[in-house]
Amino acid sequence: MRLTELTGIGLGLRVDGFAPAPHTPHGPHRPARTWSRQTLRALLWEYGVLHLTGFPRDPQALTELARWFGEPETVFPAGHRVPGQPHVRLQSNVRGLGANAGGQYWHADGSFDPSRSLVTVLTCDEAPDDGGETLFADLRAGYAALPAPVRTRVAALDGGFPCRQIAEQDMRRATAMRTVELSDAERRRKLAELTDFVRPLVTAHHATGRDALVLNEHWLRDIPGLPPADSRQLLALLYDTVTRPDHVYRHHWNVGDVLLWDNHSVLHKAVPAAPGLRKITRRITSAAPRRVPPATRTPGPALAATP
Ligand SMILES: [Fe+2]
Repeated sequence: MRLTELTGIGLGLRVDGFAPAPHTPHGPHRPARTWSRQTLRALLWEYGVLHLTGFPRDPQALTELARWFGEPETVFPAGHRVPGQPHVRLQSNVRGLGANAGGQYWHADGSFDPSRSLVTVLTCDEAPDDGGETLFADLRAGYAALPAPVRTRVAALDGGFPCRQIAEQDMRRATAMRTVELSDAERRRKLAELTDFVRPLVTAHHATGRDALVLNEHWLRDIPGLPPADSRQLLALLYDTVTRPDHVYRHHWNVGDVLLWDNHSVLHKAVPAAPGLRKITRRITSAAPRRVPPATRTPGPALAATP
């Protein structure tokens, strides 16, 4: 097992040699190297992004890994699910194969929900030789780097997330452009789940207590209570600080890479692959455990051997 820091600011850690228990005809066995769930979680909360190399290609192992961090969320829309795996989203730049060309802006996954997705697990099945990277920006370092008066000001403000309105526009546009296959029933059901809301622009991490900004270039539209020009100016300063090159890790994908990230500590953004090159990934997002009563969650067989 080898651990390598990916930046000089405590953002990102590569973990070589992590593997869950293999499946055998006799049932799940203990991992060759014992890693507790608490250890991996503590590393993720600390570093914001973990890059696991050599992870098994077993789809069930990926889902069980996601389960270490919360309850895997069901993929919407259904047409983007890996067949037979409702929690796994297929993503590609191949038209008609899963979700196409998403996430090319700074965002945290699940920001349209007031409780947000906690952790994202992503693995790469086809990697382009040129382009296709994922960028990660540290929301904690960005907040700490703000001038003290700005930190104080921002900590007292909320961000406006008119997510129901935005989702309605997005779905109408996607349906018109045929980039998403969506039935009327699916669209209505999803909109019924969404709401427009505000949330604080700074939150303390549930495990480390570190303060982090709460940003999203798509779902966060303004700062309620500020004149529009002031709101735009302050948000621009926040994005500029968080996404400064010294706050960003750039991940070049190799087939089989597994990345985990903490959506409360980092933003991410996809870079398009060079023209003509394919990129295919599979993604699982896990909701914070508070959304689901613990009694209803059971550990899966692949990773159940360790606490
Ligand atoms: Fe994303």
